Amino acid sequence: MPPFSTSGPRAQGTEFRFRCIGCGSLSESASGNFRCAACGDLLEITYPRWKVAPPVAANLKSAWCQRRLSHSPVDLSGVWRFRDLLPECGDDQQIITLREGNTPLYELPQCARATGVPRLYAKHQGMNPTGSFKDAGMTVAATFARRAGFRWVACASTGNTSASMAAYAARGGMRSLVLVPQGQISWSKLSQALDYGAVTCQLRTDFDGCLRLLQELVLRAPVYQLNSINPFRLEGQKTLALELLEQLDWQAPEHIIVPGGNLGNSSAIGKALLEMRDLGLISRLPKLSIVQAEGANALVRTLRESSGSHLVSVQAETRATAIRIGNPASWKKAAYVLKATGGACEQVSEVEIAQAKAEIGAEGIGCEPASAVTLAGLKKLVQQKFVKPEETVVLVLTGNLLKDPDYTIEFHRGELFKGPGDEGASAALNPLRRAPIVLDATLDAVIRTLEQAEKS
Ligand code: F0G
Repeated sequence: MPPFSTSGPRAQGTEFRFRCIGCGSLSESASGNFRCAACGDLLEITYPRWKVAPPVAANLKSAWCQRRLSHSPVDLSGVWRFRDLLPECGDDQQIITLREGNTPLYELPQCARATGVPRLYAKHQGMNPTGSFKDAGMTVAATFARRAGFRWVACASTGNTSASMAAYAARGGMRSLVLVPQGQISWSKLSQALDYGAVTCQLRTDFDGCLRLLQELVLRAPVYQLNSINPFRLEGQKTLALELLEQLDWQAPEHIIVPGGNLGNSSAIGKALLEMRDLGLISRLPKLSIVQAEGANALVRTLRESSGSHLVSVQAETRATAIRIGNPASWKKAAYVLKATGGACEQVSEVEIAQAKAEIGAEGIGCEPASAVTLAGLKKLVQQKFVKPEETVVLVLTGNLLKDPDYTIEFHRGELFKGPGDEGASAALNPLRRAPIVLDATLDAVIRTLEQAEKS
C-alpha cells in the first residue's frame, strides 16, 4: 500500500506534518486508517513552519483577493484559493477540482426577527457542486489519494460523503467504493453515487457499523479512506470559515452554529478559527456551537454525562438521516474546539428540526433537515441567553434542499409526524405547510384557490 508521505515537490500549499491529537507525536506519514501508530488516536495536520515564519495576515488577504481575478482552475476553486493554509500537494495539475467552495452567505431576515437576533446569516454549503459541504474537503483528500498512487478510494456514509467522493474520484480517474446503511439514506444521495460510477454497497447495519467495517478494510486492502477521519478532508473544510470571514470583511461574528454528526465539520471550522486568530487574520474568536438531533446526541451526552472524558455513544435515530450517527469519530476534536472557542452544544427535537427547516425554506433558501438543526438550536441558545440580543450569528447550512425531497414532501403533506401522540406536533406545524393541491383544469378552480390563499 503506498504510504501517505508528506515529502514531494513544493509548489502549492504549505509543508505539513501529521500530529496525534492524543499523544502529540509528529510524523511525516500516516497509516491507512489515519490513526496514531503509538496510541491509536486521530491525527491532525499541522504546519511547523508557521512557528518560525508565520504567513503575514495582510499578505494572505491580498493574495486571496487577487486570485479572484484569475481564471486558473486552482484559483477558481473556493478551497484552493486559500492554499497558503492548506497542505502542499505538488503542482497545480495534480489538483482534482469541481470549482467547489465559493458558496453564498445569505441574510435570513425573517428568521432573525422570529429568533430575536439583529443579524442572522446562512453560509450555504449546499451550493457546492454535489450539493453539500463535503466537496470542500473532498477536493483536498481526493487530490492526496491520487498523489499517493491509489486506484481505489472508499467511504462509509449517510449519503453526502458518498456522493461527493464518487464525483471527485470520477474526475480524478479513480474507482470508488461506497458503504451506506441499507434503507437509511435518501435516494437522492444514493442516486448521485450511482451516477458518478461508485461501487455502492448497502450494508445491513447503521452508519457506525459501516464506518467500523471501513476502518478494518483500509488496513487489509489498497483503498484510501475518505471519511472525515482523514485529516486532509478537514483541511479542505477549514476553508468554509476562511471564505465566511472574507465575506464578512474579516469582522468576526459572535456566533457560528453548525450541525454535528460524525463531528468532522465542526472540528474543521474550529481549527480554522483558531488558526485565523493565531495568524492575526481575525482579532477575536467567534463562539462555535454544535447542534445535534435529540435522537443522535452523542456529543451532548458526552459533555453532560462524562464532562468530555469519554464518548457516550448512542443508538442513533432521527429523520435527519445525514446526522443519524451514534458513535462520532471526531468527538475529541469537536469537544476541543467547543472549549477553545467557548461554544455550546445543544440538541433539538424532530418537531423543532421540521419547523426550522420550513422556516428557512420560507425565506427562499432551503436546506436539508440536518442543516436545519442550526436554526432550531439557535432558538434554544437565545432562550438560554447564551446568544445575546445584539449578537451576529452565522448558521452553517450543510446540504441542499433537494438532497432529501421525501422529507420535505412528507412534511408539507402532513405525513412526517403521524404516529400515535404526534397530533400536537402536527397541529403546531400546520401554518407552515403548503401541500400540493389537485384541481380540475379550469380557470375558476385556480382563481378560487388563489382567493383562498390570499385570505390565509
Ligand atoms: N449535515 C449534513 C448535510 C451532512 O451530510 C453531515 C454528515 C453533517 C451535517 C454532519 O457533519 O459528520 O462532519 O459532523 N454527513 C456524513 C456523510 C456523515 O456521510 O455524508 P459531520
